[in-house]
Formats: sequence, structure tokens, C-alpha cells
Amino acid sequence: DEAELVTDFEAILGRRDRIEPRDWMPERYRRTLVRQIAQHAHSEIIGMQPEGAWITRAPSLRRKAILLAKVQDEAGHGLYLYSACETLGVSRQELTELLLSGRQKYSSIFNYPTLSYADVGTIGWLVDGAAICNQVPLCRTSYGPYGRAMIRICKEESFHQRQGYELLMTMQRGTDEQRAMVQESVDRFWWPSLMMFGPPDSQSPNTAQSMAWGIKRDTNDELRQKFVDMTVPQAEALGVTLPDPELAWNAERGHYDFGEPDWDELTAVISGDGPCNAERMAHRRRAHEDGAWVREAATAFAARTSEDGR
Ligand code: 3HC
Repeated sequence: DEAELVTDFEAILGRRDRIEPRDWMPERYRRTLVRQIAQHAHSEIIGMQPEGAWITRAPSLRRKAILLAKVQDEAGHGLYLYSACETLGVSRQELTELLLSGRQKYSSIFNYPTLSYADVGTIGWLVDGAAICNQVPLCRTSYGPYGRAMIRICKEESFHQRQGYELLMTMQRGTDEQRAMVQESVDRFWWPSLMMFGPPDSQSPNTAQSMAWGIKRDTNDELRQKFVDMTVPQAEALGVTLPDPELAWNAERGHYDFGEPDWDELTAVISGDGPCNAERMAHRRRAHEDGAWVREAATAFAARTSEDGR
């Protein structure tokens, strides 16, 4: 009966084992996973847009090849995550419709514009750096398919972060104009990168339950702090300043103190009022419509070959 099922479910969580698709799970656990994995997948796909705009404008063949590889990786991350989500009984078509109708979201960070080429480096360094902080613990998330998708993604994410940092270091060793471009880019992306981790734990309706279910292994604030502690020394090595006057090492805490992000801005961006929300969704809708013939052809081909039994 249900009580025994709950006991078994909680025993698996208690052993920090994985819940697999065929295991019984509470409907709310399943729905939370669908929401989070779908949003994660949508983030990867929408995340191709900001950097994708710079592929044809990259300053060298080497930079173009690296950026092309990174953007293609993001597409692959999206596909792993949609596949992980499909094990929970939803289809990729449904998830795409939920995104296009605005009933499912993607990471706030991708609603900011990429105004200069330095943004390609800053996104690699800060956005993929934040994604790594958030995704490494997710390798140990309690839902099997999600955790296993994360292991592959994290390996590729470290390449993304390193190429971004190397790009910025190269510019820092260039001209004064290049150094000014890097600083201007970092000034624009620092606070939105901190907001990627979600609202503060005190304003997070999902964190406590997601921690209890082992979906999250750390809270939003814990991961944000880990990201700041990791990134400040990198900024010093790079020779850029981070736009937070309250940033200071606190020897007592053994962490950096830092200012409060603008949570009203995060709420506004999440609810659709960010600088690029409309543009990102219009682009995604157009790509979906332009790709309809591919889906129809693949479906027709699959139907014919299954009739032929080949
Ligand atoms: N962007 C958009 N929505 C956000 C958000 C953000 N940065 N932070 C929080 N939210 C939403 C949540 O979805 C939730 O709304 P909902 O209940 O209506 O869905 C609400 O704000 C409250 O936030 P909570 O902290 O209570 O919600 P969660 O427990 O879901 O935590 C999260 C939010 C930390 C983003 C968590 O969902 C998560 O870890 N998701 C997986 C990681 C992920 O999505 N990363 C995207 C980074 S970009 C990326 O990976 C691409 C990289 O390759 C560049």
C-alpha cells in the first residue's frame, strides 16, 4: 500500500541511492523534477542565442571554432536533459509547447544582451562558472537520469569556463581598449550571474523540499557563496574589479562578504520583463517553426521504415 511505497522511497533517499524511472515516487517529487529538469534543458537551448550571435563576428578562425563547439555543446546538453525529463513521462513536444507558451521558464541570465565580443569570454568565465557550481552537486541528485546527465555535462562545462577565462586573459594582455571592453562586460554580467542561483533561501519556496528529497544537495545561498569564493581570486588574477563595493574577505567566516543582489530585478526578469525576454522567445518560436519540416520528414521516414520493417 501507499505507506509501504513511501517507506521504500524514503529508504532509498536515506541511503543516498538513486530513484530510477521505474521506482515508485510521490507525484510532487515527479512534478518538481519535471519542472527543474525542463527549465534546465530550456536554459541550455535558449542559452545558445546570446553567444550564437557572435559566431559570425569572432575575431579569428580559432575563436570561431571554439565558440561553435561550445554552442553545439549547449544544444547537446539540452537534448540530454530533455531525454532525462522524458523518463518522467513527459514528451519533448509537450515541454517545447510549455516553453513557447511561457508556462515553463529558462535561466534569467539569458535575458541579458551580449553587447560586445568580451561578453563571449565573460559568459564562459562567469555564467558557465556559475553553472558549474550549480551543476556539480546535481551530479549527486537523487533522480538517476538527471544525475547521470549532469556528469557528462559538467565535463564539457569546464571546457566552456576555461575557454572563456583564456579569452579574457588574452584581451587583458592586449590594448587599453580591450581591457576596457573586458571590465565593461564584467560590470554588466556580475550581478546577473549571482542571480542565476535563485532567490535567497529565505525567499525560495522550493529549496527546503528539494533538499529533503535530495534533488538539491546545497541551497541557493550556499552555492552562490561558493561561486563568489571561487571567482574573486580569478578576477584578481585577471586584473578586473568586480562591481560590488561590499566585496571583502571575512577571515572569521572564511568566506567573502558581498552585497545583496537586486531581487526585484530577478523577479522582473523571471516574470518576462528582462532586457531580451521577448527577443529570445521570438527567436525560439521562429527556429521551432522553421524546423517543422525536419520533424515532419523524420516522422514520415520513421513511419515508412517501420511499415517496411527495416
Ligand atoms: N532563472 C529563472 N527562474 C528562476 C531562477 C533563475 N535564475 N531562479 C529561481 N527561479 C524560479 C524557480 O523556477 C521557481 O519558480 P517556479 O517554482 O515557478 O518554477 C522560483 O523562481 C523560486 O525559486 P526556487 O529557488 O524556489 O526554485 P528552485 O528550487 O527550482 O531553484 C534553481 C532554482 C536553483 C535555478 C534550480 O531550479 C536549479 O538548480 N535548476 C537547475 C540548474 C539550472 O537550471 N541551471 C541553469 C543555468 S544555465 C545553464 O546551465 C547553461 C550553461 O551551460 C551556461
